[in-house]
Amino acid sequence: MSKVYVFTDFGGPETQALIDRPAPQPGPGELAVRVRAAGVNPVDYKIRAGRYRRDQPLPAPMGQEVSGVVTALGEGVESFAVGDEILGPVVPDYGAFAEDTLVRATDAVAKPDEIAFADAATIPVAGATAYDATHQIELEPGQQLLILGAGGGVGLMAAQIGKVHQFTVIGIASQAKREIVQATGATFIPSGANVADQVRQIAPEGVDLILDLVGGDALRQVAGLVTDPARIISAADPDTVTELGGSPLKRTTEALEKITGVIEYNLVDPNVSALYPLEDAGEAIAAVESGHATGKIVIQPHNA
Ligand SMILES: NC(=O)c1ccc[n+]([C@@H]2O[C@H](COP(=O)([O-])OP(=O)(O)OC[C@H]3O[C@@H](n4cnc5c(N)ncnc54)[C@H](OP(=O)(O)O)[C@@H]3O)[C@@H](O)[C@H]2O)c1
Repeated sequence: MSKVYVFTDFGGPETQALIDRPAPQPGPGELAVRVRAAGVNPVDYKIRAGRYRRDQPLPAPMGQEVSGVVTALGEGVESFAVGDEILGPVVPDYGAFAEDTLVRATDAVAKPDEIAFADAATIPVAGATAYDATHQIELEPGQQLLILGAGGGVGLMAAQIGKVHQFTVIGIASQAKREIVQATGATFIPSGANVADQVRQIAPEGVDLILDLVGGDALRQVAGLVTDPARIISAADPDTVTELGGSPLKRTTEALEKITGVIEYNLVDPNVSALYPLEDAGEAIAAVESGHATGKIVIQPHNA
C-alpha cells in the first residue's frame, strides 16, 4: 500500500485525511513516480473548498506538482526510463501529496542534477506560472513591473525573472517580507491602506505592467497605477481583472521547460521556506491557506 493525502468531502480542512491506497499503476503514456517532494499551492485548498472540479470522485487526492523518481512506465512511453528523476504536474485524481503518483510522460521534464528535489517540486505550477506571467505581455529592459503579492510562491519567482530581463520591479507584500522581496532586486512597498501613494512616489508616470497575485480589493487599490488597464494580468482573480480592463493569466505548455532551465542556471531561486513530512500535510496546506505564505511550502513524503 501507498499513502496519499486526500479530502473526503468538499469543505474545510477537517475533511482532509492521510489514507492508504494501492500504488497507482501507469496507464498508456503515463509514468509511475515515487514522490520525493510536492509543492503546495492555493489551488489545493480552493479545489477542496469546491471552487473547482466539483465533479471529481471522492475521496480526492490533494496536490498538483511533484518531483520524484520514475518507478514504472505506461504503454508507449519511450522518452523516460525507470530510475529517471523528473518533475511535472500530476495526472488529475492521483495527487501530489502522496508516496506514489502518476505524471503524463508528455507533461514531465527531466530533473537537472543541479536542482534539488524540493526546489524541483515548485516548478510545474508556481515556477511555470511565474514564467507565463512575466511573458504574456513583453516589457523592455528598464520598464516597470509592479507585482501585487510579491512575497509568495509565484511572486518571488516572477520578481526574479523580471530582474533577469532587467525590468524595474516593484514588489508589494506585507512588512515581514521586506527582506526576501528586496533580495530579488525589487523595490519593496508594504501592503496597506496607502500602498498606491507609495508606488506613485517612485513611479509618478505610472507602471508599465501590473501582475496581480492577490485579487479583489487589493487589486482595485493599485489598478489605477498602470499606464493602460490592458496591461494588468491576474493569476488570482479573473473576474475582477476582466472588469478592470485587464486579462486573466494564460498558461502555456512551453513554460515548464523554460523555467526549469532558468532555475538550473541559478538565475531564479524558488525560495522554499518550509518543508513538511507527509504526515503533516495538513499544516503545510494551512500555511498556504492563511493567504500569507512566504515563498514555497513543500511536502516531503516520509520515505523520501
Ligand atoms: N492561473 C494559474 O494557473 C495559477 C497558478 C498558480 C497560482 N495561481 C494563483 O495566483 C495566486 C498567487 O499564488 P501563490 O502560489 O503565489 O500564492 P501564495 O504563495 O499564497 O502567495 C500569495 C501572497 O500574497 C500575499 N498577499 C496577501 N494579501 C496581500 C495584499 N493585500 N497585498 C499584497 N500581498 C498580499 C501573501 O502574503 P503577505 O500578505 O504576507 O504579503 C502571500 O505571500 C493565487 O490566487 C493562486 O491561486 C494561479
